[in-house]
Order: sequence, then structure tokens, then C-alpha cells
Amino acid sequence: MYYYIFRQIVGLEDYSRNTMTKHTTKEQDDPLIEVHKLTKTYWNGDIPIRAVRGVNLTIKEGDFIALMGPSGSGKSTFMNLLAFLDAPSSGRYIFSGSDIKDFDDDYLAELRNAVIGFVFQQFHLLPRTSALDNVALPMLYAGIRKRRAREHAYEMLKKVGLEDRIYHKPNELSGGQQQRVSIARALINEPKVIFCDEPTGNLDSKTSIEIMDILKKLHKEGKTLIMVTHEPHIAKYASRTIYMKDGSISQS
Ligand SMILES: Nc1ncnc2c1ncn2[C@@H]1O[C@H](COP(=O)(O)OP(=O)(O)OP(=O)(O)O)[C@@H](O)[C@H]1O
Ligand SMILES: [Mg+2]
Repeated sequence: MYYYIFRQIVGLEDYSRNTMTKHTTKEQDDPLIEVHKLTKTYWNGDIPIRAVRGVNLTIKEGDFIALMGPSGSGKSTFMNLLAFLDAPSSGRYIFSGSDIKDFDDDYLAELRNAVIGFVFQQFHLLPRTSALDNVALPMLYAGIRKRRAREHAYEMLKKVGLEDRIYHKPNELSGGQQQRVSIARALINEPKVIFCDEPTGNLDSKTSIEIMDILKKLHKEGKTLIMVTHEPHIAKYASRTIYMKDGSISQS
């Protein structure tokens, strides 16, 4: 229950809502993410590594962004900042109308679990855990009872076409199936935004298309997607492409 109260506080849940039914309201013109002069500097002893250098960007609700750029240009660092996985060194980050500097780490961790889904190149599934429980995990973290989390996990696995593989462990699944499990896991808390860091980086071209078709469908349903990719034909699935170079956005 805390999970829903929390989402209500951050304005992501209708107060009248008391079921698991999805709201699909799409407020296309509302900025979901706004960053102003955002920077991230790592320190290697006395030597600064300016991974993100003063990025300004607005991402609207329902956007599908492809983030491209050479290795080391700051894509993952920038995505980690947007996903509250790392704190910026300077600049402002407004998420859904709130300045994140007003939130402490615990609040940001809860916010992340409630509103953000992740899909990674390496899948990051728990190896000795069934597809069903891998998908249920973020709901269990959010304090939902196991039975309900599993029921919902089953629905998410059905959505990605894996209802006949729910008891398989990751090593009993193909790469594409593992990535579908990780998409189902990303979806389970009904996130506002899904971050994908090279979601097709480990997949063959046929499987990549299957995964991109799923992401395209999620975009059509109103999800906001931010995807890092090195492949131009994968970037074409997005509605907007942003290029990073040396920590700056060089074109958008
Ligand atoms: N935790 C860290 N500590 C120090 N330096 C880091 C750290 N993470 C990244 N960097 C440096 O910041 C820069 C940007 O790295 P980042 O991982 O964001 O690049 P990327 O665009 O995602 O590259 P790739 O396409 O290879 O994944 C690089 O120079 C990298 O070495
Ligand atoms: Mg990266």
C-alpha cells in the first residue's frame, strides 16, 4: 500500500485508483524531464574527468529518445543521472515538475523503484531465480505481497510473449527471451520512463528486431523511453535522436 501512497504523493497515481488497472493517460506536451547545465565530473586523483559537461535537455512525456555517440562520450553517465542512479556534480534536474535536489537518497531510491524501469545489454537477471520471480522482484521491493507480485509478473511475461517460460531460469532461456524477461521486469511497477542501455547490444539482428518491436509497442502505449544505442538502424525506432560527444549534446 505504501507503494501507491508514494506514487500519489509524487503525482503519478490517481487518488481514486484502487486496482492494478493501468492508466494510459498521455500528456504529450508535459515535460517529464528537464535538465539545465547538468554536469558530472569524476575525479581520478587530482585529474577531473568531465563525463557530462553542461547538458540542457527537455524530454516530454511519451517521447522515445535514442541517445547515440562514441564510446566514452558520456551516454551511460548521463542516463545514470537521469535515472537517479548517480548525483550530478552541478546543474538542475527537474523530474515531473520536482527539483530532485529537494529529495534525499532514500526518497530517490523509492522514486526510482516506483517510476523507472531499466533494460540493460547484459540483462542483469538473477541466475538461480525463475523468470516469474525475476520479474516480480521490483514489486516485492515495493512492499507488495508475493502472491500479488507473482500474478502481476505473470501478466507482464504474457505481455512480452513468455507465458510458457515462466518457471525457466535465465540459463534456460535464449538471449532474446532473457531480454524479454528484463523488459517484463522493467514494466512491472508501471514506470513512467524506461531506460534502455544498448538493449540489443548482445542480440542477433532478428532477435534485435523482436525486442525493438516490443519497445515500439510500449512507446505506442504511451511510455517514455530513453535508449542508448550504437546502431543507427536501432535508433530509427525512436522518435528523436540525440548525439553525445565529449560529454555534451552535439545535435538534437
Ligand atoms: N565511475 C567512474 N569513475 C571515473 N570515470 C568514469 C566513471 N564512469 C565513467 N567514467 C568516465 O566517464 C566518461 C564517460 O563514460 P560513459 O560510461 O558515460 O561513456 P559511454 O558513452 O556510455 O561509453 P560506451 O559507449 O563505451 O558505453 C569516460 O571517459 C569514462 O572513462
Ligand atoms: Mg555506456
